Amino acid sequence: MTRIKENFPLKKHNTLGVDVKARFFASPQSIEEIIDLLENSRELFPFLIIGEGSNILFTGDYNGLVIKPALKGINVINNDHEHCYVEVGAGENWDEFVQWAVESNLAGIENLSLIPGSAGSSPIQNIGAYGAEVSDAIEKVNYLDLESFEIKSLSAADCLFDYRKSIFKTQLRNRVVITSVIFRLNHNHIFNTTYGNLQTEVEKTGSLSLAAVRQAVINIRNSKLPDPKITGNAGSFFKNPVVGKEVADQIKENNPLMPYYTLPLDMVKIPAAWLIEQCGWKGRKIGNAGVHEKQALVLVNLGNATGVEIRDLAERIRDSVYKKFSVRLEPEVNII
Ligand code: FAD
Ligand code: EPU
Repeated sequence: MTRIKENFPLKKHNTLGVDVKARFFASPQSIEEIIDLLENSRELFPFLIIGEGSNILFTGDYNGLVIKPALKGINVINNDHEHCYVEVGAGENWDEFVQWAVESNLAGIENLSLIPGSAGSSPIQNIGAYGAEVSDAIEKVNYLDLESFEIKSLSAADCLFDYRKSIFKTQLRNRVVITSVIFRLNHNHIFNTTYGNLQTEVEKTGSLSLAAVRQAVINIRNSKLPDPKITGNAGSFFKNPVVGKEVADQIKENNPLMPYYTLPLDMVKIPAAWLIEQCGWKGRKIGNAGVHEKQALVLVNLGNATGVEIRDLAERIRDSVYKKFSVRLEPEVNII
């Protein structure tokens, strides 16, 4: 039986470091324990599944049951001359798995080094960085269906992956617990170092290997993103907006230096960090919440910020970006 704790402090379970409590909290270690917990309590109060809380903003105490699955294991389930298939328990730490892959000489996820969170959360928003997305390395996602309490699987194609998006954020939101993810890693090493200054950073290490790419990504990340152990944050607070070419052209007319990425179907992605910086927010503080001085897309907890303070700052930023550019920013962080 999983122990259910009452009035449980969540400060250490969200990287923004917001000091709130859960009315009930449990960390089940098996699928049976998760079923047991939810079968008995689902009708009584709301529940929330969390991983490592690196993409969650709590705006107050959670008046229900917070479940943090501690499903562990990194197991090779198949291996052929091209690929190694690895099943990873949802409760494994993402970056420890990346390190395991690099040390095992398996390619495909090294660009995603140092992203906080659990392996089970990685498909939810299809984590991405430095020119890679986890969907490219996912074979299958296994989950517990909370209607039928059956274990089901979705192939990568059925997960409907997109930029910071998957079926787990849409149709299946709050209806499943991801239990494990099967990754397809490559014995062949094909390096992807075209994003930003990644190639230059790899060259500084003096070699081209999985470990070199991992180290280069870690170096770049450490140079601009705050360490949540020191300064509370949840990475990018907003997604980069995707707009029609005509909207982007209009902004560019007055801002010829606007950075952008062209996408298919005449769509354009604009860095939200740039929009926010143009509105004068970079490095600003309001009460205990602030905008990181090295990356305008990252909101930080400067001390004892409440979730409401951080949410209010995000709303003010959103309003000013809309007023100046007529572009609506959408939060990437899950606001509870
Ligand atoms: P949580 O924040 O705990 O949960 C996220 C969502 O998933 C919630 O809605 C939760 O209810 C749901 N959930 C969690 N586990 C399960 C489960 N087992 N079953 C069903 N639902 C579940 N993201 C990127 O994509 N790229 C980056 O480069 C990046 N950089 C970051 C840098 C920093 C410093 C920080 C703090 C965050 C960054 N992020 C980045 C965001 C974050 O790391 C990812 O979103 C990560 O996947 C969240 O994992 P988590 O386990 O902490 O999820
Ligand atoms: N920029 C600014 N001001 C800033 C920061 C950046 O104008 O303060 C501009 C620069 O022109 C820069 C461009 O924005 O070239 C892009 O910046 P960066 O490379 O730092 O990436 P990002 O678009 O801000 C995205 C992801 C990150 C991911 C990095 C690296 C989103 C919402 N964010 O950030 O993911 O690590 O690329 O690939 O897509 C996260 O999702 O939490 C996250 C951190």
